[in-house]
Amino acid sequence: MRKISMQEVERHNTPDDCWVVINDKVYDLSTFQSTHPGGSEIITDNAGKDVSNLFNEVHPKDIVERLLSPDACLGFVDEETVDPAKHTVAGKEKAPSRAQQHVLEPQAAGKTEGQQWQKPPLEAMLNTFDFESVAAHTMTEEGWGYYSSGADDEITLRENHTAFQRVWFKPRILVNVKSIDMTTSILGVKSSFPLYFSATALGKLADDEGELAISRAAAVNDVVYMLPTLSSYSLDEMLDVRQPGQTHFAQLYVNPKRERTIEYVKRLEAGGVKALFVTVDAPQLGRREKDMRNKFTKTTDVQKGDDVNRSEGVARAISEFIDPSLCWEDITWLKTITTLPIILKGVGSGLDTVEALKMGCAGVVLSNHGGRQLDTARSSIEILPEAVAALNGHDPSWRSRFEVCIDGGIRRGSDIFKAMALGASAVGIGRPVLYSLASYGQAGVERMCSLFKEELTMVMRLMGTPSIADITEEHVLYSNLMTHVPAQSRDHLQLDTYEPLRPAARLK
Ligand code: LAC
Repeated sequence: MRKISMQEVERHNTPDDCWVVINDKVYDLSTFQSTHPGGSEIITDNAGKDVSNLFNEVHPKDIVERLLSPDACLGFVDEETVDPAKHTVAGKEKAPSRAQQHVLEPQAAGKTEGQQWQKPPLEAMLNTFDFESVAAHTMTEEGWGYYSSGADDEITLRENHTAFQRVWFKPRILVNVKSIDMTTSILGVKSSFPLYFSATALGKLADDEGELAISRAAAVNDVVYMLPTLSSYSLDEMLDVRQPGQTHFAQLYVNPKRERTIEYVKRLEAGGVKALFVTVDAPQLGRREKDMRNKFTKTTDVQKGDDVNRSEGVARAISEFIDPSLCWEDITWLKTITTLPIILKGVGSGLDTVEALKMGCAGVVLSNHGGRQLDTARSSIEILPEAVAALNGHDPSWRSRFEVCIDGGIRRGSDIFKAMALGASAVGIGRPVLYSLASYGQAGVERMCSLFKEELTMVMRLMGTPSIADITEEHVLYSNLMTHVPAQSRDHLQLDTYEPLRPAARLK
């Protein structure tokens, strides 16, 4: 690679002719800047400069190789020509993360206005909603907007949890429930209970330790973590923190440049991940208006932004790295490049579930991507009976080679029980992990997971099902699940007398 003087770099300082130095290498970002997930301004404002500090603060080490084509790298900068005082763009001073602070200045994301807010102790967290209520205060407005938002009117986002309320229990009595065994296996991997941490993008928006803390918490709780493709830490960094005996799954966004995907899958295989979850519900990312509005209002330099299409926000930008042409033939192709079990993540119907079985996939995750993609798509718990019936109709012995998982809206141990009863082999959680990480770091994720276990233990005991294998369809009533019953008229006297439960963040 050739040596390039800093003076030459400096001359390429416009959006159309935009060079920067990142960790001693010179890159031409003239094409890439318009699709940069963090917005083009941050790049074009620093065209012709050494942006290493700024870059390293938010990006994993391997992201350049993953996202840029090799010809974007022009060569090494000639160190002798670099005057740090003149050329280096400083990263922000590292402040303690909000998760590390106890008394916080108010954030627009939080619910208190104009006054400091005291974070409750970790022990005060009794359920997943408690963590969410704290995360609303501890997260930056930008991070909160990105994680909490759903598509369009957020109807599916809310429905994901609400749908579980249309499944009712039919408990059995006088069963010996002295000891409860929640252990199970997911795609052949042992797990302390039927739950895994699903892949979620950009863990550093929650906490500096991001995916590393999530992985460590997964190890402590003996659950599987599905490594995200769009992670804040590099794949090697995520694999490096693996504990003895710990197993990872991996999520895969198929890249329009197939050689990138081949290379990434090889790295996953070499890294020892046990299954590949191919995301199939995001040929384009949904419109998340909370997130989009943040991007819009946070840009104060209005004049400069005239040429930037902010209306599509991060969605359009990230879409550059996700292939919208992905189709069933590509699943056949994927099977030729890997021996890992392939699971389709984001399936929304019984028909596609059977199609996945026919294609030789090892399973599906019924999912609507946390309500972030297609608004008014059905919840996964609602699709589950349809998927199981379709599989039974196609081949009653499907369970010997295929698994159905669900994700979206799982907030209580009882939700896990209902998913098991309707035929799922495990549930994935996303936001509960991010919110507990954002509020209390790794310890938060550990506690959140333990609370799920406590709740599931209690439900299994009260339902008369001492082991996961004992949980059957007979334990639930779900005839109303597919009926999206309109709200009933309010019983004001009863409701106004009733004192609602409040999340810990709002307790006096
Ligand atoms: C999202 C993608 C990146 O939902 O999974 O934002």
